[in-house]
Amino acid sequence: MKGKVNKTTRGSFATTFGIIAAAAGSAIGLGNIWKFPYEAGQNGGGAFLLIYLVILIAIGIPIMMAEFIVGRSSHKNPVGALKEASRSATGGIVGIMGVIAAFLILAFYSTVAGWTMHYVYLSVKNVFAGLSPEEINLVFKQFIAGGYAPLFWQAVFMIITVGIVLLGVEKGIERYTKFLMPLLFLFLLILCVRSVTLPNSIQGLKFLFVPNFTAINTQVILNALGQVFFSLSLGMGTMITYSSYFSDKENLTKTAIQVSVLDTIVALLAGIAIFPAVFAMGLNPAEGTGLVFGVLPQVFNALPGGQIFAVLFFFLLVIAALTSSISLLEVITAYSCEELNITRKASTLWGGLLSLAVGVFVTLSFVPIEGLSSGNAIFFDFLDNLTSNIMLPLGGLLIVIIVGWIMDPKIIENQLRVENPETNIFYKTYRLIIRYLAPIAIFMIFLSSIGFFK
Ligand code: TRP
Repeated sequence: MKGKVNKTTRGSFATTFGIIAAAAGSAIGLGNIWKFPYEAGQNGGGAFLLIYLVILIAIGIPIMMAEFIVGRSSHKNPVGALKEASRSATGGIVGIMGVIAAFLILAFYSTVAGWTMHYVYLSVKNVFAGLSPEEINLVFKQFIAGGYAPLFWQAVFMIITVGIVLLGVEKGIERYTKFLMPLLFLFLLILCVRSVTLPNSIQGLKFLFVPNFTAINTQVILNALGQVFFSLSLGMGTMITYSSYFSDKENLTKTAIQVSVLDTIVALLAGIAIFPAVFAMGLNPAEGTGLVFGVLPQVFNALPGGQIFAVLFFFLLVIAALTSSISLLEVITAYSCEELNITRKASTLWGGLLSLAVGVFVTLSFVPIEGLSSGNAIFFDFLDNLTSNIMLPLGGLLIVIIVGWIMDPKIIENQLRVENPETNIFYKTYRLIIRYLAPIAIFMIFLSSIGFFK
């Protein structure tokens, strides 16, 4: 009964464009422009990219399709949807793990989004003009170690996120993404052009695109796996939640491929914008979480009218972060209001607040405090690792097992619009992937990362 009521009272996306914009809006965010370059920089550049692309195609896209199948066939929040797909209450546990992951990701996502907001402000004040690379790096280090400013921006970001989710799904999401994301794309292109025309840029391009196979080890593979899940918003119910609002007309395979291709292009553009500049300025590609914030202001300095570009670019990055953070909060909201029977408003409010409460400690983990903390971001790294490299792939593993082994194949065939399952090669390959290849690969990557094959 409850499901029936939900189906009619829940909103749904009006247009195909709205669907892609919202799903891509969730996928494209700090994961592409902040996390991808810093992970690639720390994990061997080209080798990381190669493994990333292999995992994206072999595991990422199939899992996105699996989440779409679960979401649209049930039109429910992840917990309800997975209970239905697995035909038992235990399936809901996967959904609950996803809700917890959403809390934790939002906690550190808001930290980095707050940094981005601060960079809009710094660019408006034209702080970076004329600074040397070292000085620009120092601005970042002093800012995150200061504590108050990062906490302030984090809170502002969270309040905006909560505000948008309170407005409701389509209105909150579609309106903003439609024209701002293409603009971000354009800006990235301009940055790329500037970056590759810097002296020595070829070194940066080589770093990103020529794989050094000796750099590959189990940790690099695990990080690439985690990055695929993080960047595509997989493994915790975001895509289940969004697809629960899809109309039955949508082609799920096509949507999954379009979203993934867009997401990958944005990550690549970010890489092309950053690594040539890193090498041109003699910086360290393995700098870590601060990489983008240390490098981009220098690229802007090398652009005519750079200040205006910087202001607009960081602003657009904040918007990209918002379309991702609302998708995270939406998972918490949909769960709490549909499964716990708390009003939508209250669900959104407590979801945002609780996550902010955890997030405060993430932000403070960058602050050295006498006798308490080294300021080495141990809590930040812990949450980043726990969610990207463990919780999301584990969630993805359980989702493909549910879809591949437990869910009624009729529903899958129906959702993918397969008419002759016996002879359809595409469908047979897909089943092979979700039943065998994806789960075994994820499992092996887990095992090897804990040293099982040594
Ligand atoms: N994919 C987003 C990014 O790249 C972040 C994000 C949003 C996310 N929703 C998610 C990550 C769900 C994992 C799971 O910035």
